[in-house]
Amino acid sequence: MAQQAGKAAARAEAPITAPTLCQMKRDGRPIVAVTAYDATFARLLDEAGVDVVLVGDSLGMVIKGEEDTLSVTLDETIYHARAVRRGVRRAHLVVDMPFMTYQVSLAESVRNAGRLVQEGGAAGVKLEGGRRHGELVARLTEIGIPVMGHLGLTPQSVRALGGYRVQGRAPAAAQALLDDALALQQAGVYALVLEAVPRELAREVTAALEIPTIGIGAGPDCDGQVLVLYDLLGLDPRFQPRFVKRFAQLGEQVVSAVGRYGAEVRARRFPAAEHGWSRAAAPRPRTRRGPRA
Ligand code: KIV
Repeated sequence: MAQQAGKAAARAEAPITAPTLCQMKRDGRPIVAVTAYDATFARLLDEAGVDVVLVGDSLGMVIKGEEDTLSVTLDETIYHARAVRRGVRRAHLVVDMPFMTYQVSLAESVRNAGRLVQEGGAAGVKLEGGRRHGELVARLTEIGIPVMGHLGLTPQSVRALGGYRVQGRAPAAAQALLDDALALQQAGVYALVLEAVPRELAREVTAALEIPTIGIGAGPDCDGQVLVLYDLLGLDPRFQPRFVKRFAQLGEQVVSAVGRYGAEVRARRFPAAEHGWSRAAAPRPRTRRGPRA
């Protein structure tokens, strides 16, 4: 009994790898995935026991304030991935390959994925699209770069899709998505994000695959779920799509906290005596960053 508890504790502490995620599917343990873009939030997600931290190209929207993900560059992604890497100890770090970093040629795509691993610290890279990427997925897998797939609503194709719409509703589209999922698995992906597809299709794909599916707007039958961190924290009150549940209202709390700070500065109530130093010697503050007395 004690030995089993010890094993479970060791498993809880062990870093999550691509094979761990496949084992979680076999064990029926749901995978918890969240996006992150900086070290502070990455550390908090790791502390919260998140299994997968994704440096998503959603950073184009939530960090850069763009309308879509298309402008995100490889260098920007590496910059954010390095920061996230410093905050993560246990969670599996996946980094998105940005638009146009894996479409031009096989050689360039391999080099770009390699930079995400070498410079960004990625444990796996994610790319959008189906069987057309089979050769690339096989090559990356062969050289030791685990690849996560992404099907359904693929935001990098928003212009071709004509907007952010649910995918795979018509029988032919559903079949094509299932075929793509099987082709990606065959090529070597170790997990597959399913975005904005009907729950019945997500269930069918999940049952057909040995690798785990991670859903966003794909219903409860996937092997795991992923959300954009800023959405689940409610940081942008203007953004409330159907598939997002806000687990906090941090946007309101930030406005309120900064408002109270502003009020105290204007009323000269902040800083108070305990937030600064006078000429008389005082005990050394126990902060990591503040100047010493
Ligand atoms: O870029 C991103 O954040 C993503 C997730 C929404 C899956 O791809």
